[in-house]
Amino acid sequence: MLVHTINEVRECIKKWKKEGLTVGLVPTMGALHNGHLSLIKKSVEKCDKTVVSVFVNPIQFCPGEDLDKYPRTLEADEKLCQNAGVDIVFAPSPKEMYGEGHILSNDFLTYVVPPFFYVDKLCGKSRVGHFDGVCTVVNKLFNIVQPDYAFFGQKDAQQLIIIKKMVKDLNIPVEIIPCPIVREESGLALSSRNKYLSETDKKEALALSKILFNIKACYDKGIKDVDALSETAYGFLNEHHSLEYLEFRDKENLEQKTLADDNTQVFIALRIGSVRLIDNILLG
Ligand code: PAJ
Repeated sequence: MLVHTINEVRECIKKWKKEGLTVGLVPTMGALHNGHLSLIKKSVEKCDKTVVSVFVNPIQFCPGEDLDKYPRTLEADEKLCQNAGVDIVFAPSPKEMYGEGHILSNDFLTYVVPPFFYVDKLCGKSRVGHFDGVCTVVNKLFNIVQPDYAFFGQKDAQQLIIIKKMVKDLNIPVEIIPCPIVREESGLALSSRNKYLSETDKKEALALSKILFNIKACYDKGIKDVDALSETAYGFLNEHHSLEYLEFRDKENLEQKTLADDNTQVFIALRIGSVRLIDNILLG
């Protein structure tokens, strides 16, 4: 069932809660692919009812980012959800979520702001304010849907870590279920932004997963020094790539590592032309 208003969602949730049913939430920005579908399948399997939100959240885009051209494919998204057994596709308008106020100015909105230590690095460095927008919308979705479980992909590992932190710090009564990265056979992690890539770009984009898989192989062979592991990346980069970051951090608290261990997560962001892609791998 496709629903556009908060009230309609609340009505259904009220009914389900009365019946003692468990509710799973899969927050998305739409343009659904098999990565999203893996989260949806997990929710449908685990919960009595599943809500998928489809909302291109304007407040998590920085000025100059791809808010206007972000792919919007609601009809196909709804079909995919229906076939997967989703109970509600919640696709609100920006006005429904934020009212007229925010459209005039984001200054008239209460934000959820994650700790600076979690956002001054990796994607937060180039996307200032991005995680404030993510936490704010996810918190709103939690309040609207009141899910027992919410499903997030490891693909956006920094986002997942920050959301877990928010849930803990704010005592939000929801269990966060992390889901593994879904990749193409080539290794490329699925992403709605892959739609921006030409066939040639797609080949260049394989550098991300190749770098990560190679680092993991070197780690498994016994190389623990982060500088030495980082060095191995350069063999996969060429003039089409602009490396934004390649960092080794703790999988829970994002502390930087100088020696890799099983709790080390390797994060990479790479630009190919104007398209910015991210990926990560856990070494343990
Ligand atoms: P979006 O990019 O649409 O992603 C929605 C969810 O799908 C996220 O939890 C993301 O990590 C997961 N996902 C995306 N690609 C994946 C892949 N290849 N394998 C596994 N999971 C994958 O992330 C967002 O939207 C937004 O920031 C949101 C949380 C919805 C807040 O607006």
